[in-house]
Amino acid sequence: MKKSFYINGNWVGGDSYSPLYAPYNGEMIAEIPMADEQIIERAIVAAEQATGVMRQMPAHQRAHYLYTLAALLEERLEKAAKLIALEAGKPIKTARGEVIRTIQTYKFAAEEAKRIHGETIPLDAAIGGEGRLAYTVREPLGVIGAITPFNFPMNLVAHKVGPALAAGNTVVLKPASQTPLSALFLAELAEAAGLPAGVLNVVTGSGAVVGEKMVADPRIKAITFTGSPNVGIGIRNRAGLKRVTLELGSNSAVIVDKDVDLSEAVARCVFGAFAYSGQVCISVQRIYVVKEMYDAFLSAFVAETKKLQGGDPLSEDSDYSAMITPKETARAVEWIDEAQQRGARLVTGGEVKGTVLTPTILTDVPADVKVSCQEVFGPVVVINQVENVEEAIALVNDSRYGLQAGLYTRDLSLALRAADLLHVGGVIINDIPTFRVDHMPYGGVKESGMGREGIKYAIEELTELKLVVIKK
Ligand code: SIN
Repeated sequence: MKKSFYINGNWVGGDSYSPLYAPYNGEMIAEIPMADEQIIERAIVAAEQATGVMRQMPAHQRAHYLYTLAALLEERLEKAAKLIALEAGKPIKTARGEVIRTIQTYKFAAEEAKRIHGETIPLDAAIGGEGRLAYTVREPLGVIGAITPFNFPMNLVAHKVGPALAAGNTVVLKPASQTPLSALFLAELAEAAGLPAGVLNVVTGSGAVVGEKMVADPRIKAITFTGSPNVGIGIRNRAGLKRVTLELGSNSAVIVDKDVDLSEAVARCVFGAFAYSGQVCISVQRIYVVKEMYDAFLSAFVAETKKLQGGDPLSEDSDYSAMITPKETARAVEWIDEAQQRGARLVTGGEVKGTVLTPTILTDVPADVKVSCQEVFGPVVVINQVENVEEAIALVNDSRYGLQAGLYTRDLSLALRAADLLHVGGVIINDIPTFRVDHMPYGGVKESGMGREGIKYAIEELTELKLVVIKK
């Protein structure tokens, strides 16, 4: 029950512990050690000492460790999925999907480890550059500080640890306080894989203590963070010259044009809005439907939503479950109330049954209420009618966020125009903004963050480009 930190290849107990509760039934599932300054220092020292080993390690060996992690996880798929379901309240079907993605993410990292390379530069293109050979190489940065969120406790850890190790870095990982077990499980796999001591260190505890120290410490060369915009912006402001990759929130939107296949669009939008109770950065939060399709879309959407089953995340029948904490549930309910007070219509949902907030559909929602203009991170979707796609694009762009946006249309030139006009990190035509596979570039503009994940792109963030010039 009592867990340990993983530092320098050893399991280390803490001086103080905090209980960890399952979101669905409130049962205590573990006691988590809370890191103090001394523990974080030990983790950073271990990671720094291991940088030499990683710098020397050939690419095929780094790839071997990553493939081994993937293979070990594959053998323990069911155990890993149950762990996610328990600590994150993620329905087991969805949790299995996350583990399958995590395995792929480590495999992609293994593959990318073998193709990190620079380029030759034709210096003689400049007057005075003749007679020289120039090439670039990508070097590891050293120690990477990874701070991960609760919503994908395995795969978003893999998105930081995978590329960091692929590139020859070492890692101090601080998982979300609500979901540390998945990260500690990864440490067990790293140990079983024989990863050298100090290459991966897992430090649990409060973000205020661990995160602060990681951001401030000059031995940590880059911070890769997924979480809320407020915390992310705070990290950016304190990081000085440290590299920072930020994957922050969004109020992602999808636009539905006329003449599209309604049943496909509805099925995908319901999935995008309510999978893991909307606690996904690219969850469908706003849907703008052109007037010709609105009534049919809304009634089909409501009918599909009503088929979803809520309950115990460990049950095969559950499509949704409790949000991560009662506090977050109460916040989502408050936001739903605010929208109704401002004239929105509650079509279905908005009830808390036990610990579970039911999937909530709001229509006629003003653009400036929280469920529309802030990130809900809960099972709440806004479905509003628009005159045309142009109006919808303006509404999508009228946001502090810009992660991904979706557009359903049969009109190719409209799709291409929307791809130009939408101010987001990824435009997804004929699918929802929730679409993500793990090697594609992923990240946002505005308050949705900076830098890109997706293994190849994350490796660029976590390496330094070095130039070599040789006079012949
Ligand atoms: C996120 O919530 O940022 C990640 C979404 C995903 O990986 O599907």
